Amino acid sequence: MTDALPDRYAVAGHPVEHSQSPFIHAEFARQTGQSIAYGRLLCPLDGFAATVRAFAADRSAGTVRGCNVTVPFKFEAFELAARRTPRAELAQAANTLRFDADEAGGWLADNTDGIGLVRDIERNAGLSLAGRRVLLLGAGGAAAGTLGPLLQARPAALVVANRTRAKAESLVARHLALACDVALSACTPAEAGAGFDVVINATASSLQGAEIPVDARVLAPGALALDMMYGPAAQGFLAWAEAHGALGRDGLGMLVEQAAEAFFLWRGVRPATAPVLAALRARLAAKAP
Ligand code: ATR
Repeated sequence: MTDALPDRYAVAGHPVEHSQSPFIHAEFARQTGQSIAYGRLLCPLDGFAATVRAFAADRSAGTVRGCNVTVPFKFEAFELAARRTPRAELAQAANTLRFDADEAGGWLADNTDGIGLVRDIERNAGLSLAGRRVLLLGAGGAAAGTLGPLLQARPAALVVANRTRAKAESLVARHLALACDVALSACTPAEAGAGFDVVINATASSLQGAEIPVDARVLAPGALALDMMYGPAAQGFLAWAEAHGALGRDGLGMLVEQAAEAFFLWRGVRPATAPVLAALRARLAAKAP
C-alpha cells in the first residue's frame, strides 16, 4: 500500500527542543527509503512513564514503534522495559526503546551510546582503541553508558577518574568481568597519572562551563581528547586539548553514531553516517551566531 502511514518514533526528554535527533533520523530515513516520522516528546519531570506509554498507545497517525531517551530519563527508560540488551544491563540505563508487542516479549531497552562513541573514535576519527591507554573522566550516566563498549574495544588500560572516587570504583566493579586483559582501574582526576592516548570527558563540567576537570599532563602528545558535548558547551575543552598538543573532538560524531545504531535496532537497516555527520555540522555552523 503506497499511502500507508509512516511508523512513528520520537526523542523523549526534558528538555527536547534542542535535540538534533529528529534531523538525524529524517536524514537516515531519506537515505535508506524507510517510511518513518520522528518527532519530539517533551515529558514532565515526574511523568516520563505515563507520557511514553500514551505515546506508544497512540494509533492516530501511524504505528508508534519506539523512542530515543535523553536526559534525565535514561534510568527510568531502563526500568520501564520488559527486556534489556546486555549493554543496557551493563549501563543500567537506556537511550533507546523499541515497543515490541507483548507476544514478542514486550518493550526492549538498549543503550547505543557506548557503541556510538567507539565507532566515532575508531571509524570517524580513525584511531583504533586496541592497545591504547584510555582515560574516561566521570562516573555518572554518560560514563556508565560507554564503559562496556570501550572495554570491548580492548584498550591496554582504561582508567575511570571521577571527582567522587567511590562512584568510579563502583562503576569499575560492575564491569570487572568484562575487563579480561584490559587494566581497568578507578581513581580521582588528580590521581589519573599521565600520557593517555585517548581522554574522554563524560563529566558535566562542559555543560556547567566549569574548569577542565583534570591536569593537561594526562594528554600524551597527539592524544585524542573527546568531549561528549557539542556546540558552544564543548569549546572550552576543545581549546584546552589543542593548547596542549592534543586533537580535540566534540560529541557530534558520537551523537550520529548512537542514532545509527538505534535506527538499525528499529529498522534492521544501517544508514551511512558520514554524510549525515557532515550535514549536521553544516547545519549547526549555519545556526551559530
Ligand atoms: P550524566 O548523566 O550527564 O553523566 P550525572 O549522572 O549527574 O550526569 O553525572 C555527572 C558526572 O559529572 C559525575 O561523574 C560528576 O562527578 P561526581 O560523581 O563527583 O558528582 C561529574 N561532574 C559534574 N560536575 C563536575 C565538575 N565541575 N568537575 C568534575 N566533574 C564533574
